Amino acid sequence: MTPLISSWEDYQRCYAESVADPAGFWKREAEQFVWEKPFEKTVEWNFEEPDVQWFIGGKTNITVNCLDRHIERRGDQVAFLWEPNEPGESTRSLTYRTLLAEVNRCANALKARGIKKGDKVVVYMPMIPELSIALLACARIGAVHSVVFAGFSAQALSDRVDDAQAKMIICADYNRRGAKHIPVKAVVDQAMDLGCNSVKTVLVYNNTGKEVHWSDDVDVWWHDLVPQQSNKCEPEWMDSEDLLFILYTSGSTGKPKGVVHTCAGYMVYSCYSFRNVFQYKEGDIYWCTADVGWITGHSYIIYGPLLAGATSLMFEGVPTYPDAGRFWQICDKYQVNQFYTAPTAIRALMAQGDQWPAQYSLDSLKVLGSVGEPINEEAWNWYDQHIGHGKVPIVDTWFQTETGGILITPLPGITDTKPTYASYPMPGIQTILVDAEGQEITENEVEGLLCIRFPWPSMLRTTYGDHERCRQVYFSSFKGLYFTGDGARRDADGRLRIIGRVDDVINVSGHRMGTAEVENAINEHPNVVESAIVGYPHAIKGQGLYAYVITQDKALDDAFRQEILEVVTREIGPIAKPDKIQFVEGLPKTRSGKIMRRILRKIAAREESNLGDISTLLNPDVVQSVIDGVLD
Ligand code: PRX
Repeated sequence: MTPLISSWEDYQRCYAESVADPAGFWKREAEQFVWEKPFEKTVEWNFEEPDVQWFIGGKTNITVNCLDRHIERRGDQVAFLWEPNEPGESTRSLTYRTLLAEVNRCANALKARGIKKGDKVVVYMPMIPELSIALLACARIGAVHSVVFAGFSAQALSDRVDDAQAKMIICADYNRRGAKHIPVKAVVDQAMDLGCNSVKTVLVYNNTGKEVHWSDDVDVWWHDLVPQQSNKCEPEWMDSEDLLFILYTSGSTGKPKGVVHTCAGYMVYSCYSFRNVFQYKEGDIYWCTADVGWITGHSYIIYGPLLAGATSLMFEGVPTYPDAGRFWQICDKYQVNQFYTAPTAIRALMAQGDQWPAQYSLDSLKVLGSVGEPINEEAWNWYDQHIGHGKVPIVDTWFQTETGGILITPLPGITDTKPTYASYPMPGIQTILVDAEGQEITENEVEGLLCIRFPWPSMLRTTYGDHERCRQVYFSSFKGLYFTGDGARRDADGRLRIIGRVDDVINVSGHRMGTAEVENAINEHPNVVESAIVGYPHAIKGQGLYAYVITQDKALDDAFRQEILEVVTREIGPIAKPDKIQFVEGLPKTRSGKIMRRILRKIAAREESNLGDISTLLNPDVVQSVIDGVLD
């Protein structure tokens, strides 16, 4: 494998090289993998269409590089350690050799149910080893996986299945999340009633042994199909630009979009970024607490670690079960070296008190990571002092579903860290800040809109089934640039601090929500006339959801609030439930009828003294009545 970036000087040299000769830089990274057919050209691109291709003409299979490639040297090394929800239950571990055999069995099972290259498979599973096996089995035979986070509702699941035209759903009977057992097979049954006409098979893993409803024509138990398959399965050789997976994420308008990642570029970047960001060394135990339903889990639980030949821990449960010391107990139990989590978890655990981490040594930790949302200074300092004991570097990693891998981050032991700063771009990533007109801002100590001016291997290629939407959302704001949707600040030394979304996307506990999506859900209630959702500062979640609702013929009471929460839970899932619901008579609008969210955001954040000029509104009078009813 290519050497890791080893010092600040080395970082600067690599960065300069990657800008001077991007093709040469990425060719070297790509050549360390197994290719059935070598690529002929490293990159071709234009951001107008957009059309981005990497490692053109090459053929490979990501599972050969995750698994087969390692068997000779590390067949008996543990690939996955697994900690169950219940602390007393036995743990599991899968070596690279066993994982390959299990993946092949599952791949043969998919084939036995008619799944072929290019078919879509939706995975709706708990955090158990079979989830990784299912994803890798798809990749083995060239099927395209689309993981749906198990917190999404039947409606949201069926929307995604229908959009992808998936032929199979893989799920479990029940998910275990702390004290709760969630009936996911029942959710799949409901989704099948709502749509999912393309689905021929529902493959069900028996996770808890509880009863489930069964339809013999589509449902198949994992244990009846997978174990008896052969443990050999030839990989499907994929073109570099064949689809690897689709992952749905929220945007500022309309329905969630299916972000498309392709085989070779994603492989090269997830491995490169994993190795360098975590400075992973042979024998280290690495743990990322994300859910595989999000991009972090794809790139930094499954693909990145396996490509790098790492030992990675997977955890089924939640940070506070059975108590708020669970994460730290697990760190000690497995002697975790690299620990990667989200600010929302850090804030939630910080609120439980310092006595929890104080019970554990945490001495094995070498790197602490943060991802998914801005980390506030207080949480950064607590993480540093109470988990890292002041001697473990924190990497505040910025990326997106669309970027496939971490693009901006300190490198541990290499970059000086500064609280709340994601710091510098990885070599190969050409970030720039622009103003609202798209003019590059070159000076430091400024804020601007974060864009990227050159492609990187794991960037999204399209939004599934709607290329125009991809062009429109990411490439039309500023000519020749990929626009991230985030604002950023650059300090005097050129370090970047990500401020957050500048569009109508809200980041709640690190989960992305589109305002339009939540509003559409609320508007499904027959007594809701109109609604507006904005984000407001929330001590644990980072941002909370504040709903303004106009109603008719309905008592404005908690029972109605409850009905609204139920509609949102039904349409999207419990993760999209508003934290506050204010009933209003009207919403401030521009003369052209657009809701003025800027004003609503200020009111929800209790900054009503600072609304600016409201005289140009269509209905300025309504503002005072909204302020009068604001909820604490
Ligand atoms: O606003 C940024 C925020 O999360 C958004 C991407 O969300 P998603 O696609 O769900 O991926 C989350 C996991 C990578 C970004 O546009 N974000 C992500 N990481 C950070 C962040 N904001 C601040 N600091 C970060 N480290």
